[in-house]
Amino acid sequence: MITTPDTRPENRVLIFDTTLRDGEQSPGATMSHAEKLEIAELLDEMGVDIIEAGFPIASEGDFKAVSEIAKQSKQATICGLARANFKDIDRCWEAVKHARSPRIHTFIGTSPLHRAIPNLSQDEMAQRIHETVTHARNLCDNVQWSPMDATRTEWDYLARVVEIAIKAGATTINIPDTVGYTAPVESADLIRRLIKEVPGAEDIIFATHCHNDLGMATANSLAAVEGGARQIECTINGLGERAGNTALEEVVMALKVRHDIMPWDTGVDTRRIMNISRRVATVSGFPVQFNKAIVGKNAFAHESGIHQDGMLKNAETFEIMRPEDVGLSGTSLPLGKHSGRAALRAKLKDLGFEMADNQLNDTFVRFKELADRKKEVYDEDLIALVRQNEAVS
Ligand code: KIV
Ligand code: ZN
Repeated sequence: MITTPDTRPENRVLIFDTTLRDGEQSPGATMSHAEKLEIAELLDEMGVDIIEAGFPIASEGDFKAVSEIAKQSKQATICGLARANFKDIDRCWEAVKHARSPRIHTFIGTSPLHRAIPNLSQDEMAQRIHETVTHARNLCDNVQWSPMDATRTEWDYLARVVEIAIKAGATTINIPDTVGYTAPVESADLIRRLIKEVPGAEDIIFATHCHNDLGMATANSLAAVEGGARQIECTINGLGERAGNTALEEVVMALKVRHDIMPWDTGVDTRRIMNISRRVATVSGFPVQFNKAIVGKNAFAHESGIHQDGMLKNAETFEIMRPEDVGLSGTSLPLGKHSGRAALRAKLKDLGFEMADNQLNDTFVRFKELADRKKEVYDEDLIALVRQNEAVS
């Protein structure tokens, strides 16, 4: 995946969070007005650069949420989504204009499949893009334009419409992999080629917006950065349509942990990740899978004897990042049937039981019997075991 690093001097990658727009489009993930305001505040506090707060034309509720988020924002740019028509764009502007830094994001599907829906010829669509981006730019000096399904759009046409959008005043061009179809090497090459070949491309920011249908959203986003993208679009917990969007916590932590080979910085305070992840899981009703990278319950948990023993000696044996860096208080060493003596001894010590080796051996035998019956052995179980041992000896 790693190709020649981009040599442009800027090392800052903007984080564009779309939990409240693309994330909320996940079937069943609707959030209340108060919940949206709360999540927007948490995103703002954690240092996200741009918050896509909703799709103002979609409903009265979305319009109100975007307007309120725009009013409450302290640092982040507040963005709203609009289709390629004046009515959507005007409504979007009415909502975001309250922000200290507003952005209009307008889009249209450019691939052959998407062009067929409004039944526009290539020329008619090009004209529509010119008119709508010009209109948005007359309202707001920060305009993002997206050719939806860019990764399945013919190269010549994609290059043509990107040039039109830039000439009409777009300040950010987002290249969506709408159906999660692209692969990392293509993702990097597409952005690199657009920057190299489209007139005016070097003066604007390219963004990457990946969906996770093949589980490649994070890899594709990071590859796009290798290719020259300087804005990553993502959501907390990877919430989003179908298999979701790029997970914010994954790209941000990947850039932090592997800064040696991906030397780009974000403005995100990573210690706030766990809290916002839990809040988004609760308010969206989408629990985080246990083995989800960074924020899953098991992401910093070690059950097997070899791993626990290693962790007790040196945390770097099985952890590439510190749990504190994502907002956890520490590693967890749950006791189960794969655990060994070292972890049992450490846990018993925590619970106030110091044991001689023969006593520990007895307790260990009983612990293994219990662990064979139970998925996880809790503190109360261990205390009961020790008491039983004391009673028989
Ligand atoms: O996935 C997509 O193409 C989108 C656009 C609206 C940017 O979400
Ligand atoms: Zn999307």
